[in-house]
Amino acid sequence: MQFLRGLSPISRSGLRLFLSRQLYPFPVANSSQLLGDSTQKVFNRRETYSWSLVDSHGFKQQIHHQSSFLSEEPLDPFSLVADELSLVANRLRAMLVSEVPKLASAAEYFFKMGVEGKRLRPTVLLLMATALNVHIHEPMPNGVGDTLGAELRTRQQCIAEITEMIHVASLLHDDVLDDADTRRGIGSLNFVMGNKVAVLAGDFLLSRACVALASLKNTEVVSLLATVVEHLVTGETMQMTSTSEQRCSMDHYMQKTYYKTASLISDSCKAIALLAGQTTEVAMLAFEYGKSLGLAFQLIDDVLDFTGTSASLGKGSLSDIRHVIRLSLI
Ligand code: FPP
Ligand code: MG
Repeated sequence: MQFLRGLSPISRSGLRLFLSRQLYPFPVANSSQLLGDSTQKVFNRRETYSWSLVDSHGFKQQIHHQSSFLSEEPLDPFSLVADELSLVANRLRAMLVSEVPKLASAAEYFFKMGVEGKRLRPTVLLLMATALNVHIHEPMPNGVGDTLGAELRTRQQCIAEITEMIHVASLLHDDVLDDADTRRGIGSLNFVMGNKVAVLAGDFLLSRACVALASLKNTEVVSLLATVVEHLVTGETMQMTSTSEQRCSMDHYMQKTYYKTASLISDSCKAIALLAGQTTEVAMLAFEYGKSLGLAFQLIDDVLDFTGTSASLGKGSLSDIRHVIRLSLI
């Protein structure tokens, strides 16, 4: 329940509370690489960790981590990666140019400043990268280690960009399926430019995401994120075609919710871990973290579909339930 309570407002402050409690303690403390030389002390409500780790190259490293997540003022996770988020946003806008002006303006519609949304996914992924990039190689000459670290970070930023493009593509298609007229406080793309352009803009975003994915030259990551697109389609189809019996089943609801929402963030978190060269076990922990976060996010989104107002949500309320009712009447 604490998990849900942290998220319930679906506001920056709610997410801030949730992320600061949940994200920071996890990756290092649960790592299978821990050698047991750990201490935990509490000084005036602050914690100090001292871990011994072995990285994937077998080098022992000592990490001293001073955490303030028990202090009165939690860190703001969004501000921790604010500069990088702007970088990612600028690169996304540059990736969406097209020789056809109408396609370009449709594709960049939700990437324009002010309508980029909460940017939860890129924020979580960049913070996950910070938590998992703990490899400290033997000192290398001429700053080679710094260069490798910067290259890794750029590749992980690319995962954040790909994830955001897949996410927005799925929203463009979802709004067509849901006949939505608003999204993020403005007219939905299907409402403003029509269903056909909205569907094609979604396809365009997916194709640009594929090109970016291929540039990473990592077949495991390519396969992981390609499967996410299959999951999104599976989840949406499960939702559209569910029988009245399935609509009363919690298992069906959770399975559909995993495919529709949690799969994207869980597999992207795993991709961040894989690029960092983490073990399978750590990659699975990153996956589980993303899965829990994604499920919680959609549970709250579904509750707000009943309890929120169109003004507070920036999109139509009751649209999903109306659609299910309409489908069940067909
Ligand atoms: C929002 O759900 C929609 C999703 C989380 C996924 C939609 C997926 C598809 C339409 C499949 C096609 C996928 C791609 C990548 C093209 P919601 O309607 O519950 O949320 P909302 O209230 O924000 O509309
Ligand atoms: Mg919808």
